[in-house]
Amino acid sequence: MATFKTQVVSERQDGAVLLAVEELARGNLVAIPTETVYGLAADATELGAVQQIYAVKGRPSTNPLICHVADIDMAKKYVEISPLAEQLMQHFWPGPLTLVLPSLPGFGIASPVSAGLTTLAVRCPESETARLIIAKLGKPLAAPSANPSGKLSPTSANDVLAELGGQIPLIVDGGDTQVGIESAIIGVTDEKLTLLRPGSITADDITAVVHTPVFDRNSNQITAPGQLASHYAPTAKVRLNAHSAEAGEILIGFGEVAGDMNLSASSKLEEAAHNLFKFMRKADLMSPSCIAIAPIPNHGVGIAINDRLHRAAAPRNR
Ligand code: TXA
Ligand code: MG
Repeated sequence: MATFKTQVVSERQDGAVLLAVEELARGNLVAIPTETVYGLAADATELGAVQQIYAVKGRPSTNPLICHVADIDMAKKYVEISPLAEQLMQHFWPGPLTLVLPSLPGFGIASPVSAGLTTLAVRCPESETARLIIAKLGKPLAAPSANPSGKLSPTSANDVLAELGGQIPLIVDGGDTQVGIESAIIGVTDEKLTLLRPGSITADDITAVVHTPVFDRNSNQITAPGQLASHYAPTAKVRLNAHSAEAGEILIGFGEVAGDMNLSASSKLEEAAHNLFKFMRKADLMSPSCIAIAPIPNHGVGIAINDRLHRAAAPRNR
């Protein structure tokens, strides 16, 4: 694999967007900020660039990527957009909602992006920098979270540098990400909505807007590999629903369970999501025997937090 002297450039620096566009146009990978987590981006229409994403992440080729677009018009070139899908885009874009839609034939996206499926996941990120880069490149960006496959997602430029430094030429630094966990993913087929990955936009938020029920992925055969049992995992073992730390453990608290660090002392789930991966990284760096985590209420954004925590605590086969 090629090695690079990784440059970190602030999104506020003049020319940062152009620098990113130049690297992407050359077929290179660039880490970009989004409102959820940092993405490892490549021109989605360039086979070689997309293949590099899989190589750098060590990602199984069966796990498809999300295509990031600048706006709804760009999405229209690549996917079939039903009235229901359009309604969701109009309401939630730009923002942390990914839609899995039927891809258009001869649509120009490099085939590994959708890993052989007939659907494509599209998302329009809230980050203005991300959207400017996509618009200036004039192509969608395939971008998974910028972490080695199976590990914690990065919420700062430093997280990316620590794990992917030397493997990519450029990281665009947009500061700490606001949401802190990955986008919600909804499959839209024949006007039926399926929640493939919970996020900060909840199934209830969606139903409130489109007056259509959102089915649970477990009642469905669709497989999104973010559904792999073990994912989002720190190096240390993880113990859930802990009220106190056992010997050698670091306790990540929530609300009244103070812990060694607290996801949200005032029990705010959005704040807990923002801190989740950041605190798990911090705890991991202390090399505990185990990271214990306080119970998180399972409603609203808490559903997405518990989804990530259950995967972090799942038995690992590596
Ligand atoms: O917030 C996010 O979505 C971040 C930022 C960078 O945008 N991206 C992200 O990408 O989380 P990644 O690759 O870590 O997760 C993408 C998920 C995977 O679980 C993948 O299986 C699923 O999306 N996915 C992609 N295309 C799909 C498709 N056509 N059908 C079903 N699932 C799909
Ligand atoms: Mg990921």
